[in-house]
Amino acid sequence: MSCSWFGVWPLAALITLAWIGGCECQINYRLSTNLRPSLYSLSISLRDNTIVPNSPATKFDGEVSITLQTSLADVKEITLHKDVTLTIIQCVLYDAAGKQVEEVNNARLTSVEEAQQLTVGLNQALTANVTYTLFFKYFGNIQTDTVGLFSASYIDEAAMQTKWVLLTQMQPINARLVFPCFDEPTFKAKFQLSITRPDSLHAISNTKLEKTTSEGNNRFTDHFEVTPIMSPYLLAFVVSEYQMRGNSTLSIHTRPAYNQYTEFSYSVAKRVLPAYGELFQQPYQELGNDVLQYATTPRLSQISANNWGLIIAKDNVFVEQPGITDGWLHKELTIRNIVQENAHMWFGNSVTCLWWSHIWLHEGFARYYEYFMGHQLYPDYQLDQQFLVQTLHQALLFDSQNITQPMTSAQVNINTPEDINYKFERIAFAKAASVIRMLSILMGEENFKTAIRNFLKEYRLSTVTPPMLYVHLTENWPKEQDVTLNSIYYDFNIKVGYPRIIVSLDEDNQTFRFKQTRFLLNSTDGSNPNLRYTTPITWTTNLGRNFQNLTPNFYFESDVPFYWGHMNQPIDWIIVNIKQAFYYRVHYQPPLLGRIQKALIKADHSEIPVENRAAIIDDLFNFALAELIDYVEVFEFMEYMSTETDYIPWYAAYVGLEKVARRLTPQQLPNFKKYLSDITEAVHAKLGVSWSASDKVLDVYNRNQQVSWLCKYQTSNCTAQVLEKFNGSEKPSPDYRETFYCAAARTDGYDRVLELYKKETNYIDREIYWRAASCTRDYRTHYQNEILGQGNSVDLKMVGLAQLYEQNPDLVTPIFQMVTENISQLNDALGFNWAKTAQALSDMAEYFTTREQQQLFSNFYKQSHTSFGSSAETLNQALTKVEANVQWAEQRLGKLVNFLAQRNGAGGLALASSLVLLK
Ligand SMILES: *[C@@H]1O[C@H](CO)[C@@H](O)[C@H](O)[C@H]1NC(C)=O
Ligand SMILES: *[C@@H]1O[C@H](CO)[C@@H](O)[C@H](O)[C@H]1NC(C)=O
Ligand SMILES: *[C@@H]1O[C@H](CO)[C@@H](O)[C@H](O)[C@H]1NC(C)=O
Ligand SMILES: *[C@@H]1O[C@H](CO)[C@@H](O)[C@H](O)[C@H]1NC(C)=O
Ligand SMILES: *[C@@H]1O[C@H](CO)[C@@H](O)[C@H](O)[C@H]1NC(C)=O
Ligand SMILES: *[C@@H]1O[C@H](CO)[C@@H](O)[C@H](O)[C@H]1NC(C)=O
Ligand SMILES: *[C@@H]1O[C@H](CO)[C@@H](O)[C@H](O)[C@H]1NC(C)=O
Repeated sequence: MSCSWFGVWPLAALITLAWIGGCECQINYRLSTNLRPSLYSLSISLRDNTIVPNSPATKFDGEVSITLQTSLADVKEITLHKDVTLTIIQCVLYDAAGKQVEEVNNARLTSVEEAQQLTVGLNQALTANVTYTLFFKYFGNIQTDTVGLFSASYIDEAAMQTKWVLLTQMQPINARLVFPCFDEPTFKAKFQLSITRPDSLHAISNTKLEKTTSEGNNRFTDHFEVTPIMSPYLLAFVVSEYQMRGNSTLSIHTRPAYNQYTEFSYSVAKRVLPAYGELFQQPYQELGNDVLQYATTPRLSQISANNWGLIIAKDNVFVEQPGITDGWLHKELTIRNIVQENAHMWFGNSVTCLWWSHIWLHEGFARYYEYFMGHQLYPDYQLDQQFLVQTLHQALLFDSQNITQPMTSAQVNINTPEDINYKFERIAFAKAASVIRMLSILMGEENFKTAIRNFLKEYRLSTVTPPMLYVHLTENWPKEQDVTLNSIYYDFNIKVGYPRIIVSLDEDNQTFRFKQTRFLLNSTDGSNPNLRYTTPITWTTNLGRNFQNLTPNFYFESDVPFYWGHMNQPIDWIIVNIKQAFYYRVHYQPPLLGRIQKALIKADHSEIPVENRAAIIDDLFNFALAELIDYVEVFEFMEYMSTETDYIPWYAAYVGLEKVARRLTPQQLPNFKKYLSDITEAVHAKLGVSWSASDKVLDVYNRNQQVSWLCKYQTSNCTAQVLEKFNGSEKPSPDYRETFYCAAARTDGYDRVLELYKKETNYIDREIYWRAASCTRDYRTHYQNEILGQGNSVDLKMVGLAQLYEQNPDLVTPIFQMVTENISQLNDALGFNWAKTAQALSDMAEYFTTREQQQLFSNFYKQSHTSFGSSAETLNQALTKVEANVQWAEQRLGKLVNFLAQRNGAGGLALASSLVLLK
């Protein structure tokens, strides 16, 4: 909250607020550190009606005794966190001997709601350095959202009953929704939890169950062992009718029907924990908790959540059902989640960030190990390569826009819940992981490991700030490096953004030059274009072809305008930032790009590694987006891909192509299809549409991606080939199911896929078949029978309608016309919901690329917007979006459209006139 915000408050409110919190202007969101809790004895009691089918209880009862001390004299107030949904019934202060010091009546309990704080006013001051116990009796809400203590339900198909699960999500600041506490990571304490629950349920929490006592009336209390010293947000429990696989120290808990499918997750869990113990030279158990449990939930705001000793994830993450969810991609999801959450036991639970402003210390390391520990344990998935396209490229895209932020913010800038949420995004995960990878490569893996081990040892069970990590990195920084860690660390951690390194070759073919500038997607979006970075440069040429040595040839200092080098022989090409080990983009000036392209077409791509091929493609698409080059250059370069068969470059290519392809008009598509068909020649020849058990994992992913694109754009004879396969008796393996059934449904296969959908009872499979059936080109039949018809849920109808044109982009106009002929029919089918109907049309408009389509939409808006009530605004915004998209396509794709037409020869030209404006 800002000062100016107070300006609109009536005077009376201002005075009250000032009086309550003692705050003049800014609310102080941080607690004073002179008061420190050391132990919470927390009893949560679930009411008897907790799990009546169809309506779980809305309240729970709690008691907490907080052992604490202050280091100051004259402390007469205790301020801690308490959400407004907790109601305090009683508050008593005891001394260390358990003797009552005073009961604090309601009048002396004051709250600052905005900061979710409670202040306990005492009659007499606490004695410094003496232990007290502050006791609260209270009740609170079982939340409907996925925060604090909340409920989730599932259908137990065997019993044909709705079952309820109660579970917690405390990170980052939701412990205060469950009990009054010092809810900042720095206030580490021990927790002794007990849960009272009805007979039919059982509870798990962070630590081992110590004992269960009977309360009479079929009620029992589970008492858990005291936790290690930890931050409040790491407390967790799950109360359910789940079944368990495993034993008292390692277990997976799921709804009974899933229990048989957790074998794979369990095998992963068994491997991962000891692997980290070995890597960090600090076994998990030595941190003070010897159990690690996994639990699934139908509902969670993220895929998975780390709590000490109890990892919670969405249902599908730990469940591999044979023939349905046991494909490679799904196993990779399981592996990556387990590997990532396990890393948090060290980075987060034992060693904890002092404040959320540097949450990257948890999330960056967890993401880094997700890929690189994942790769070490499961090399088949080549997660070291996948890291580039899934994490590094994502970070580079985000970090080149005004929405970015530094990895480390100043503590004073991160205060409100919104500030804290803001730190939990891509920079803390993807950029931090990319920068950690860069540092690890720069230092050498062994030095890096030593630094991390020492760091984790020194700060075991305590809190840290980035400089504490920095000390250990510097101590292990190789002496022979000609740059200190300091400038690199500062440039990539405190500054935002990263450089574009511009490489050029002189006419003598022997002298090359490097310049740097900050890369910005939009140079006028308010970002600072003048930032420069200390940048490690590696390079090799066609003469050396050394793609193994990642030691920098030199560091580009941020205050030096350019560097140049001279070879004693002419070179043909140069590759910079080998294996994209470091955090920047490389811009090859002519004639280098063309020469690299020629090298790539040669046998074995002239040894240029897959990482650099993917990097160049991703860089080029981004340079085109930033208007540094034209798309023609990108497409010309990508002609080399007619020899490319690897997944990683193709992944980068499709990410870039997607943004262009969806802006092409139906008239422009044929030339794009021809281009796509040509550049996919080698990969299609290699992978085809048939699979075999001996396929490499990335080939499986790649085939899927190829078939999906080629059939969508009806190139090669993709659909015919898939249909042939589909007619055979072989069922596609789970990895291919959706792609293949979708391709089949486009033509002859529709009825069969729809039949599969209707017969299926498993909800995961049903959705797959539904999305696949909705790829049909017979959009009228699907729309009339399935989307306007009665049988399907509104959610599925929304998905199905979008599939019709997303999977057949050339059909978007007739589909729009069909739908808008009688829009109230769609509205009825979507449950009489104009907001959803407007959303459906607005999604469609995202695929509008021509002035004619714009006109259609605008006519429809004029005639019908009054029916939509307040949702007409959604349509209005969609219109603005269409205008921007059409403009973008006209301005940015004109040359490309001509290039594609010319490339395909006169035959391809007929329909290719690009910039005709139809008014
Ligand atoms: C309490 O103990 C701390 C640390 O031992 C000490 O620095 C502080 O001065 C003590 N406070 C008082 C009021 O004696
Ligand atoms: C539980 O199983 C794990 C994995 O097999 C094993 O390492 C551990 O020793 C077992 N714990 C107990 C108490 O049996
Ligand atoms: C540089 O290389 C190009 C391409 O191989 C060649 O055409 C040109 O003559 C070379 N220039 C010099 C000065 O050798
Ligand atoms: C760049 O950002 C400015 C300021 O937000 C905006 O007005 C402009 O339209 C953006 N340019 C592009 C090409 O998106
Ligand atoms: C975004 O732009 C605003 C000005 O429009 C500027 O004040 C701010 O610093 C920029 N943010 C970043 C991260 O560059
Ligand atoms: C697809 O095309 C290839 C080569 O063009 C041909 O060998 C194959 O028979 C075709 N398959 C089908 C099902 O048409
Ligand atoms: C696949 O089977 C259907 C009938 O089930 C038939 O109409 C179609 O021609 C077959 N397609 C191919 C490519 O064999």
